[in-house]
Formats: sequence, C-alpha cells, structure tokens
Amino acid sequence: MNRFYITTPIYYVNAEPHLGHAYSTVMADIQNRFHRLTGDETFFLTGTDEHGDKIVQAAEKLGISPREYTDKISGKFRETWPLLNIRYDRFIRTTDPEHIKTVQLALQKVYDRGDIEFREYEGIYCFGCERFLIERELVDGKCPDHKVEPTHLKEKNYFFLMSRYQDWLIDHIKKNPGFITPERYKNEVLSFLKEPLDDLCISRPVSRLTWGVPLPFDRDFVTYVWFDALINYLTGLDYPDGERFEKFWPVANHIIAKDILKPHGIYWPCMLRSLGLEPYQKLHVHGYWKTRDEKMSKSLGNIVRPGWLVEKFGTDATRYCLAREMVFGLDAGFSESAFVTRINADLANDLGNLLSRSLTMLFKYRKGIIPEKHGMKGPHQDLEKAAAELAQPWDSAMRDFQVHLALSETWKVVNIANKVIDQSAPWELARDESKKDLLDDVLYSLLETLRLSAVLISPVMPSSAEKILSALGLEPARELCTEGMTFGRLKPGIQTSKVKALFPRIGPSKKEAKAMADKEKKAGVQARTKKKKSGEQSGKEPEGNGLITIDDFAKVELRAAEIVAAEPHPNADRLLKLTVMAPEERTIVAGIAEHFKPDGLVGRKVVVVANLKPVKLRGIESKGMLLVAKDSNGLHLLSVPADTEPGSRIS
Ligand code: MSP
Repeated sequence: MNRFYITTPIYYVNAEPHLGHAYSTVMADIQNRFHRLTGDETFFLTGTDEHGDKIVQAAEKLGISPREYTDKISGKFRETWPLLNIRYDRFIRTTDPEHIKTVQLALQKVYDRGDIEFREYEGIYCFGCERFLIERELVDGKCPDHKVEPTHLKEKNYFFLMSRYQDWLIDHIKKNPGFITPERYKNEVLSFLKEPLDDLCISRPVSRLTWGVPLPFDRDFVTYVWFDALINYLTGLDYPDGERFEKFWPVANHIIAKDILKPHGIYWPCMLRSLGLEPYQKLHVHGYWKTRDEKMSKSLGNIVRPGWLVEKFGTDATRYCLAREMVFGLDAGFSESAFVTRINADLANDLGNLLSRSLTMLFKYRKGIIPEKHGMKGPHQDLEKAAAELAQPWDSAMRDFQVHLALSETWKVVNIANKVIDQSAPWELARDESKKDLLDDVLYSLLETLRLSAVLISPVMPSSAEKILSALGLEPARELCTEGMTFGRLKPGIQTSKVKALFPRIGPSKKEAKAMADKEKKAGVQARTKKKKSGEQSGKEPEGNGLITIDDFAKVELRAAEIVAAEPHPNADRLLKLTVMAPEERTIVAGIAEHFKPDGLVGRKVVVVANLKPVKLRGIESKGMLLVAKDSNGLHLLSVPADTEPGSRIS
C-alpha cells in the first residue's frame, strides 16, 4: 500500500487565522483526501507555533500570560478548520509536553554530533522573522516581509553549524528534481546556496526570553523558532520510536508559502541530515494571497477571515474558489467579485445546472431510474470519450499539486455534458418513440458524467460530491475509491432522487447592493423633486409608479457576452439565432433580423440578460436576451469594451 504524509506550516499564534493560512490548510486537506481516494494510507498534520518573543509581546499587550494567550489563539485555529471541513489526523502545539521532549532529544543528538557551537554574535535582528538577517536581504534598510528596520543585537548564543551540510544539500537537490517544487523555488534555493551558508543561531538567553524550550545541555538558554518549530513534523509522527514515524517519514510532503522557503528548503534538510535522518520527500511551495497588491498579513491589516468567506459562500464553494483561483506556486489577488463570478459560473451554472437539468429530465422521461445503455450513435459519444479520458490528466495534475488544472480539466467535461443536452435535445427525443434507446443513452452518459465528476471533485468539495452521489442513488463511501474513477460504473435500474439547488447563485455583494441602493435613492429624490416642480400633488407615493426596488433589480443578471456565431432563424424572418459565450456557450434567439446582418454580429461584445427562463422561439430554445437601445434610427446593440471578459457580471 502506498502511503502519504502531508503537513502544513504550524501557524504562529500572534495572529488569528486568515485566508493565507486557510489556503495552505485547505490544500493539505485536498491532497490528503485525494491520496485517500486513490487508496493510500495517509497522515495529515497541522498545528500552532507558540514560542518566542512575538508571542510574549502579543500576550503582554492583552495583559494576559503567554499560556492563556496561546491557548486562546491556538483555539481559534482549531475552531476555524472544521468550518472549512478540514480533517487532520493530529493538531500539534509546540507547547505540548511531548513536543518539548522531542525538541530536546533532537537538540541533544545534534549537540552530541558536534554540530552545535557556543559563540558571540553581533548582527541585525528582525523580531518579525525572529532571526538575524544579513544586510543584502534588506530593502530600503527594512525587512522586506515586516517592513520594519531590524534591531542591532550582540549576544552569546548557540549556533547550528549548518554550513557543514551545504555541499550535501546542493547535491541532494540536484539529484532529486522533485525535492522542492514548483521548479522556480528549487532554483531560488539553489541560488541561495551559491553563497556560503551562515550558521544558524538557535538559542536565546533566558535573561531575555523564557518562553521557549530549555536547551538540554545549557539551562541558561532556550531554543525557539526554527529548531523548535520544524521538529513538529517529527513529533507529529511520534519520533523517534513511533510506528507512525517508520511508516510515514519516508513519504513526508510539506506545504508552505514562499515566506518560509529558506527554513524549509535549507535549515530543515540540514537539521535532518545532522540527526542522521533522511530528508523529507517533497516541499511544495505556494505563492501569496494578496489584497491591494500586498501579501495578506495581520501586520499589514489587509486580511480576509475564513469564517467570513464560509458564511458568505459556504464551505465547499470557498474551498473550490481557493483551489481554483490560485495557481499553486504563483501569487493571486483576492477579490470577492472574482469568487462570486466563479461560484455563479462554474458551480451554480455549469455543474449545478447539469445536475438539476439531468435529474429533471430523468424524472420526466424515465421516472428517475437510471436507464440501460444501448450503444447508439450521437453527440453523447464525444462526452463519453472525454469523460473516460479525464481521470488520467486529473490524476497527474492532482499529484503535482496543480489542483486548479485538475478542476479545469473536470469542468471541460462538465461543459461538454451541458452542450450534449443542447445538441441532442432530449425533450425532442422523448416525443419520438423510435428515439427511445438514444434518449436512454444520452441520459445515461449525462448521469455517469455527473457520478464521475462527483468522485473527481470530492477532494475539493467533499459534501457536494456526497450530495451528488446520494442523489444518484449511490452510497458515497462505496463510490469514493479508485474504482469510482472509471467511466461506465453507474448501474442501470438505480432509483435516483431530486436535489435542491446544490450551489445557490450568489447575488450582488453588500457593497454593490449599497451602491445600487444609493443610486436608487438618488433617483427617487430626483423623481419626487421633479413631480413637485411640475405641480403634481405630493404626499404618499402612489403604488406602481414605475420605480423598482433594489431587490427587483438584483433579480436581473446582466452579463457581458461575446457573439461567436449568428445565423438566420430557419422558421422566422424576424429572428436571428445567436451563439454567445457568457462565459459558457448558450443560444439566444433575438428579434433583430431586420436591423442586423448575422455576419456583422460575430465578435461583438454585448450585454445579455443571463438569468431569463429559457423559452422556445419557433422551435429553438433561447437562453437569455440581448439588450438594445431603440430610437428613430432603429436599434443599437448595447456593447461593452472589447477587452471585457465574456461572462463578466454587469452591475
Ligand atoms: N510558525 C511559522 C511556521 C513554522 S513551520 C515549521 C510561520 N507561521 S505563520 O503563521 O507566519 O504562517 C506562515 C504560513 O501561513 C505561510 O507559509 C503560508 O502557509 C500561510 N500564509 C500566511 N499568509 C499567507 C498569504 N498571504 N498567502 C498565502 N499563504 C500565507 O511562518
């Protein structure tokens, strides 16, 4: 059996959890669930890092003891993770007695090996990073991460002689190409290693700091930060003698952001080497979530709380957006509206609609029972082919931590399924008894695509996956396994059940709604002033005066759309049949044939009402409406600038 050990950084308790912490933890959870899905035995570790100056300072500010303070904030992390449906196996705190014992054991081993030395050091120290910096790391004389000038310090301390392992480390990284990924971070570490490594200061005198782990060989000093924190990955497996350690250390995978690349990419492998242990298997490094183009962090005051996201979007949709909106390894800007667009387009429209349309048709035409397959020819065969070929690219993207790619591959198939509905028009097949077998096949391929998609999205959206599988009459626990990833598994004859909207569409944000409300208020005032001026009776506003409320307006979903094809309607002179991307492909039948030539419309970026109930216009189903302005010269298409992305919400 394959095994997999996944860790997150253990987070400092000087700040409450935010979106950045949530991302690393959700990615670890996704990886853990993915490996479990493929049959691996897994172990998932997270926790909090609780020693050091920063913690003492934060506690002092609140007038409580470091112990009370760490209990409080560590508790907030433990309260947050269930909101995001994170299922870790162990939550470690560096103040746990077992951890302190492990750190002391490791220190003693390294000391006995002669890799720790006592010496005087003078240098510039950043309290934010809790380490001595070197001059060339500074930007405008300040720490680039904490934007503060470092403090000049001179004291006697213990040093880990890391430089002894420099050549070995360079060699190890070069011989093991996947050791640090993505590639750019491997290169960054190799470029650090071109310069001679400084030895690492690992202690503080107790006269200056007591909130740390006492050195086993000198009780006048404590260790904290890296020699304390990194060891958590060993404590988590009950090092040195735990069975877990034997099982999982060889498959250790760490997730971090680039801020702690140096400790994980350099200090940690050297420490492990000194301990006589194999290095971890892989280090996976992601970029920063930013707001206002700055790394999201407590010190910069630009954070987004995971609880707020979950309240607004729900657990699965939040997990989906985190995984889909960031390319693992690169920075991403956080934008509420980008999340809303993602949820409405990918979840409510593409996947949610596929599920509800497919089940509605299944109930209408086959009493909700999965039909037999007959091998008929039709567009659904393309879908079957695409779905059958999906598992492989999905698997390799997931293994490479490219979850956004695994999702976009899955959505390609979901969208083919939606197209198959339009192309094969089951409602027409249902009217023709001779097309019965074809209708069975179309329905089967749609439902089987849904089953497969549910399995493949399950690491990212576990609850939604379970809901889809249950609706298909399946037992999630039996489906979420390696066999579940093969196309064609769904057995005919199963009774399905209807589901309520899986992903409710999200309305405009509060800010947008307020802007709209203000505008409406202003318009109302203007209208009343006008009436007064024109001598109309004032007093109570009559009902039905043409004004709408903000809620009425919010019901209309306007989107930018690109016309990709246009042709005359086969059965009506006044109508054109348009194919638009908004952002998914849809057909709109518009009564504009007298005013526009089809060819002239292709490539135009227009405005459509995207949430109109579909109607059939002379035999063609129209999903949406084009907006035009009408004057004495005729019709003018409302358009948006050429660089507007199709599907953008207009508010
Ligand atoms: N305690 C150390 C880690 C010790 S691990 C042995 C620490 N803690 S931290 O609270 O500052 O957490 C840093 C980690 O939180 C990052 O590496 C990343 O996983 C996550 N993030 C914090 N802010 C982030 C962003 N703005 N964007 C993405 N991830 C971020 O360093």
